[in-house]
Amino acid sequence: ESNTSNPDAAMQGICDLLQSRISYYSWVGFYFKNGDKPELKLRVFAGEPTEHTLIPFGKGICGQVAESNENFVVPDVQGQDNYIACSIDVKSEIVVPLFVEGENIGQIDIDSHVLDPFSPEDEDFLEFINSELARLF
Ligand code: SME
Repeated sequence: ESNTSNPDAAMQGICDLLQSRISYYSWVGFYFKNGDKPELKLRVFAGEPTEHTLIPFGKGICGQVAESNENFVVPDVQGQDNYIACSIDVKSEIVVPLFVEGENIGQIDIDSHVLDPFSPEDEDFLEFINSELARLF
């Protein structure tokens, strides 16, 4: 099946490409709202497996984005008290929501082992990826 008719294959390809080609993208994954439950579920990822496959709305950086519908750039995770650590190596994180017809259905989440690596260009780039993926849903 081609990537354009299979959103999971497309998202897995994006995770693999970004994680392997962008040095400061250490872990790349997509979380989606889990049906009618007030939680996010990990759908695809590239990088080390995480035990945080289900995240309640409001919890951690990801759970906050599920409620705020806004990008969340964290230059230094040590400065966050509502943060879920996936690995002690993670220094920073960026989460960008994925909108389909105006509805926040999920998000791309990137962890970095580098301190403060994310610029507005990363936000623009990830928003573009999500807007292209939205056409598959
Ligand atoms: N750090 C995230 C949890 C997901 S892991 O980064 C893969 C958070 O605080 O929501």
